[in-house]
Amino acid sequence: MVRVVLLGMGMAASHFVVGLERIKAGEIEPYGVPLAGKLEKSISDIEVVAAYDVDESKVGKTVYEVAERQIGDVVPIPDTLKKLRVLEGVHLGNLDRLGIRSRGLDYRMSLLEAAETLIDQWRELEPDVIINVITTEYAYEIGSIEVLEERLAEGRVSAGQFYAYVAAEYSRRHSPVAFVNLIPTPLANDDLYVKMYREAGGLILGDDGATGATPFTADVLEHLSERNRYVEFVVQFNIGGNLDFYALTDPDKNLMKEKTKSSIVEDILGYDAPHYIKPTGYLEPLGDKKFVSIHIEYKSFNGVRDSIYVNMRINDSPALAGYMVDLARLGRLALDAGYTGTIYEVNAFYMKKPGPKGGKSISRILAYQNMVRWLEENGLLVRSPTH
Ligand SMILES: NC(=O)c1ccc[n+]([C@@H]2O[C@H](COP(=O)([O-])OP(=O)(O)OC[C@H]3O[C@@H](n4cnc5c(N)ncnc54)[C@H](O)[C@@H]3O)[C@@H](O)[C@H]2O)c1
Repeated sequence: MVRVVLLGMGMAASHFVVGLERIKAGEIEPYGVPLAGKLEKSISDIEVVAAYDVDESKVGKTVYEVAERQIGDVVPIPDTLKKLRVLEGVHLGNLDRLGIRSRGLDYRMSLLEAAETLIDQWRELEPDVIINVITTEYAYEIGSIEVLEERLAEGRVSAGQFYAYVAAEYSRRHSPVAFVNLIPTPLANDDLYVKMYREAGGLILGDDGATGATPFTADVLEHLSERNRYVEFVVQFNIGGNLDFYALTDPDKNLMKEKTKSSIVEDILGYDAPHYIKPTGYLEPLGDKKFVSIHIEYKSFNGVRDSIYVNMRINDSPALAGYMVDLARLGRLALDAGYTGTIYEVNAFYMKKPGPKGGKSISRILAYQNMVRWLEENGLLVRSPTH
């Protein structure tokens, strides 16, 4: 079994729970799950045991109701999701400025009391993996335990930093978990968190899932770099109509994405070619199917200049949900294999900004090969493929 707790019951979480149930029921093939049929744990071993949110219209509802409202027009919602209710998380101001009515444990208790409440709930739920897919937040690396303690006492941590701290505490006091951070908040890139998890016997994977244009651009840059073509500039536009894109109209939240996305250029090319790589806008009718446009200009042999133009429409949240199916299983497998702290080989494939701090962004084709080698060395791949 892989027992999963979800933080944030938004679009990505909805596609994850619904897709998972449909794969288990044999309704769909596991396309979009990179390691489907390849891992020592099968997809049907995953069980979602709880989901947390702070949107007043979601907390207390069944996961079925929330998923129906968000993606019911795209895919059928399995009845099995009626058994699971959305629990109240800790808000820490994350939905302020988005015009969403929120609630949270922190509205009626201190953060330290909220931490104990979550730990008590998790003792009952016994999660192996906790996946963070809450709204993008503005947060900086914390760096030292003294600063973290001070900020916890003053309520000056972000929700992601808080949940990751509580999960480390849970790992230390009760049973080790893998915390998978799919949002840009630096957690696997914060030495303090990696150390906390190492000492607690847990794992932290992150940061920020790499699903759409960024891994694609990374592979194109690797292609150019291997042929010694000199990249003059990179433009990567992203316009979407889901809540995630709406949240990114907030300049602080947008800056967080820009940071995790932009690290690919210098890491892959070895020089910082001028680039504009950031979520560019919100246009409601696009919905979850975002519009991506990429333009790269480079210098080739004999000084001539070539151009690459790519346009795509990509379903945003199902792409991340497919990764969640792998990361849940990888988290549990790696814990069982005795890994603690973080795992660069896994992060480098799934994440925009792979931890630990200083971990290079490499092309996804290379990252995939490295990860498969790592899985082989650890005996985590199956011989006869099933899912
Ligand atoms: N392809 C992708 O969709 C993709 C790729 C990489 C990263 N991400 C990241 O994943 C996250 C989720 O994406 P999404 O499309 O599902 O977004 P979403 O806006 O649909 O869902 C986010 C959910 O988190 C909830 N939330 C906000 N603050 C919370 C808190 N403090 N505690 C508990 N719940 C909270 C919101 O109410 C909402 O239900 C975003 O941060 C996004 O940047 C998404």
